[in-house]
Amino acid sequence: MTDTFDKSLTPANYGLLRKMLKEVSGLNLTDNKMYLVETRLQTIAKAYKYNSLNQLVDGLKGPLLQKLRIDISEAMATPETFFFRDKKPFDQFKNYVLPRIMEANKSTKNINIWCSASSSGQEPYSLAMIIDELKSTTLAGWHIKILASDFSDKILRKAKTAIYSQFEVQRGLPIQYLMKHFTQKDDGWHVKDNLKNMVEFRNFNLLQSPAHLGRFDVIFCRNVLFYFESTDKAKILNNLSGVMNKRGMLFLGAAESTVGTSNAFGAIKTERGVYMKTEDLEDSKLSA
Ligand SMILES: C[S@@+](CC[C@H](N)C(=O)[O-])C[C@H]1O[C@@H](n2cnc3c(N)ncnc32)[C@H](O)[C@@H]1O
Repeated sequence: MTDTFDKSLTPANYGLLRKMLKEVSGLNLTDNKMYLVETRLQTIAKAYKYNSLNQLVDGLKGPLLQKLRIDISEAMATPETFFFRDKKPFDQFKNYVLPRIMEANKSTKNINIWCSASSSGQEPYSLAMIIDELKSTTLAGWHIKILASDFSDKILRKAKTAIYSQFEVQRGLPIQYLMKHFTQKDDGWHVKDNLKNMVEFRNFNLLQSPAHLGRFDVIFCRNVLFYFESTDKAKILNNLSGVMNKRGMLFLGAAESTVGTSNAFGAIKTERGVYMKTEDLEDSKLSA
């Protein structure tokens, strides 16, 4: 059977798609991303029984508007993640950040952690594994909450289901954690309930104000800021600083930084990728 699907897009429809993505998820679709559009939107177009990408984007003018906006935005988002991604941030969390937050919060013995673009859950579950390991020693008597959010319900469904393929558990997950926290079944590796129950998943769009989510001691916002344009990036960083507790710490991805975008956070000079609110950094003399 020949594929009669037309993958081209008129400049006007590319512009419409770009505007819609910026509004819904903040994705900054630059001029040279047609290959991404072609590969990611074909399945959606076919599911809606459209024969071309132009028909799909024309659909944004019709009655399916709201559902289509979400389906397209979710399909265009990059969910790439894996357990203990980049390893170092998780070592920094355990050995640098956690001891300092415990010192700051010793009177309440509460720690609130937020993974603000958690994708399919590997990042918050990695943190939960570290916390579980310390719960009967260093963290005995402490209450740790992990909130994980993403704008995509589709990816959150996978995160909540917490079933991972052989490929996914082979990427970065130490074998002793696999043995301890997962059960192998026909459909994949299931995260055990005690670990699943340590993470609360919620839908949250970083373009919105996070004030209703609470206040946090540690925020992970990794490998997502580079999809936004600089005004949105600045707004997000300012919003994150607004919900960060005093002496809280922010993790960004290896290819991301606050430099030239926002003064809300500054880098901790000894800890690459870890940031504090600028006023706290100056107080603690940790600035770079
Ligand atoms: C590349 S993944 C990063 C996942 C994880 N933080 C990591 O570093 O492995 C980016 C995630 O950001 C989410 N995302 C994109 N735009 C978003 C937005 N406006 N609000 C919340 N999440 C968003 C995507 O759905 C995707 O799951």
